[in-house]
Order: sequence, then C-alpha cells, then structure tokens
Amino acid sequence: MLVLESLLADFNQELQSTHRIADLLNLKAKFIGKQGPLADVMKNLKDATPEEKRTIGVRANELKQAIETLVGQKMQELEIQEMNAALASTKIDISLTDSVLEKGLQAAGYHPVTIVQQEIEDIFISMGFEVLDGPHIEDEYHNFEALNIPATHPARDMQDTFWFADKKHLLRTHTSTIQIRGMKERKPPFRFVGPGKVFRCERTDASHEMVFHQLEGMMVGENVSVGNLIYFMKTLLSEIFKRDVEVRLRPGFFPFVEPGFELDIKCLICAGKGCSVCKQVGWVELLPCGLVHPNVLRAGGIDPEKHSGFAFGLGLDRLVMMKYAIDDIRFLHAGDLRFNSQFKSF
Ligand code: DAH
Repeated sequence: MLVLESLLADFNQELQSTHRIADLLNLKAKFIGKQGPLADVMKNLKDATPEEKRTIGVRANELKQAIETLVGQKMQELEIQEMNAALASTKIDISLTDSVLEKGLQAAGYHPVTIVQQEIEDIFISMGFEVLDGPHIEDEYHNFEALNIPATHPARDMQDTFWFADKKHLLRTHTSTIQIRGMKERKPPFRFVGPGKVFRCERTDASHEMVFHQLEGMMVGENVSVGNLIYFMKTLLSEIFKRDVEVRLRPGFFPFVEPGFELDIKCLICAGKGCSVCKQVGWVELLPCGLVHPNVLRAGGIDPEKHSGFAFGLGLDRLVMMKYAIDDIRFLHAGDLRFNSQFKSF
C-alpha cells in the first residue's frame, strides 16, 4: 500500500516537469505501462489474502484511472501548445497589401492589353462565342500551309518570321493558327475567338513591335455571309469604344479569306488629321477580315459546299492605343511602372 500511495505523488511531481508530448507518453508508460510499478503490484497480488486482494486491487485501479485522467488532461494542454507554436512559426501575413502600401511600394494592376482583351472576350462570350487558346511555338503547317499559304507563296514574305533552327518550327506570326485546331475539334455551327501574343521580326517604331497581340475570331455555319461579318464587327466596335466610331471597309488580300477586307477606323488620336500612329493618313487598320477560303475550311475538316464562315484578326495593341490615346506602341512592352500604374488596379 505504501508504494501505491506515494505513486500518485511521484507521478504528479514528474508531470509538472513534462513539456513535450513524447515525454508525456514515456511518463505514462513508466507509471502505468506493463513494466511499471502498478503492473508489479497487480502481479504480486496472487500471493496476497483475499481481503488484501480486494482493497489493493480496487486502489490500484483507482490510481491507474487517476493517472490516465491526468495524462489525458496534460495531453490536451500540450497539443494546444504545440499547435499554437506551429501556427506562430508558419504565420501568413494576409495584411500584405496594406504593409506594401505603408512601405510606399506600388500595388500591382492589370496591363492595359489584358484589360482590353478581357473586355473583348466578355463581349464575344455574350454573343455566344467560345474563347480558345493556342501555342506560341507553332509548326509551318498551322501557321502557313493549312491557312492556304504554301511554301512558295509570296504571302509568306508578308510576315517576317522568327524561325527555329530546324526550319520547321516558328514563333506564330498571327493568331490565325488557332482557326485550324478550332475547326478540327468542332462540328459546325460554331463560333470562337482566340486571343494571344504573336511575334514578328520587325523593325520597331511608334506603331510596330516584335511582340504584339491579336484576337482571332471565327464563325462557321450554313450560309454565313459578309452580312453576318459586318454585323458582328459593328457590334464589337460600338461595345468597345462606347461611342460611334467612323469605319470604312476596303478590299484586302489575305490568302486564308476570299473575299478579304480591311476594316479601318478613323484615328482617335488625331481625329483623322494625321499623326505618327495612323502614319499621317487619318485611318487605322484595325480589323482585317473576310469569308473563310474553301481550302482553309477543308484543312479544318469542313465541307465548303455545305458550310461557310467568316474570320477576323483584331490587332489588340492598336485598339488599346486608340482606346487610351497612347501614341507609341513601345510603351506597352517597356515595363515602365509610371506607364503601367495608370490603368485599373486589382
Ligand atoms: N492573320 C492576319 C495577320 O496577322 C490577320 C487576319 C486577316 C486574320 C484576315 C483573319 C482574317 O482571320 O480573316 O496579318
């Protein structure tokens, strides 16, 4: 009995100096485990009198339970402590925006090309178009061949191409590449747009860059005509500019459309008087378009006898420049924060 009575006091004393879960488990094993003093007492009971068996047995069980309760309580305490310590050491500062501003740093914002691209995507989505993506690195087939520009065609010279060393791959020169995969993966009728970066080995000036942005559009179905094309282009422009813009349609040549058009808008920078952006002519080429050439429909797995379509390739950078009155395309890629921060923030 003596051993038993001092057991709880000994346990309590050791419990005071236990601060880790692992140590607590060891302590529990030491006192009420199979090799512990309580187990010893129980083992020795077989030699005791029936009376002793009863009182010592009951007391031993009471002690075991008391120790288990104390271990349980301490366990909870330690678990909370360990969790708090873990939380403190992996703290995430969700007030980052404020602290960034306090330090006088600038919060990030959207690039004007992104703003306009998203706006136009929304306009087309509301008109039932899908938004597709395509790779920047293309093969000759998707960039030229399938778009009715065979190897010997002079139109390949219209686009100064960045070729890879294998002479088979290139950085896409236009988003028209998106047309081919888009057609192959669908059955008419369908309509989609495909925005993205395009690359040309150009001499840069106020209106030319080597990396710029286009938004391709395509609609294919039965009896799709120039009437449909003009309707969608007009709706698009009035939604984008939120005012009447003067447009003119000229014949234009692109191997992948027949007939092909150039849709120009009156320059919004100089109101048609002539400036560096419109190359002094007062009009800006914004929307080359046309009815999809039968060869291109065939490359996309579509029978030109049954279906027709229109396509267009919107120059996004020029549109951004018109919308925000930016008079040099090179600002768009310069990464100058004084420029970039003038647009919508997150
Ligand atoms: N891909 C042409 C270019 O980058 C633009 C273009 C013209 C796209 C006419 C079209 C189109 O879809 O119908 O110069």
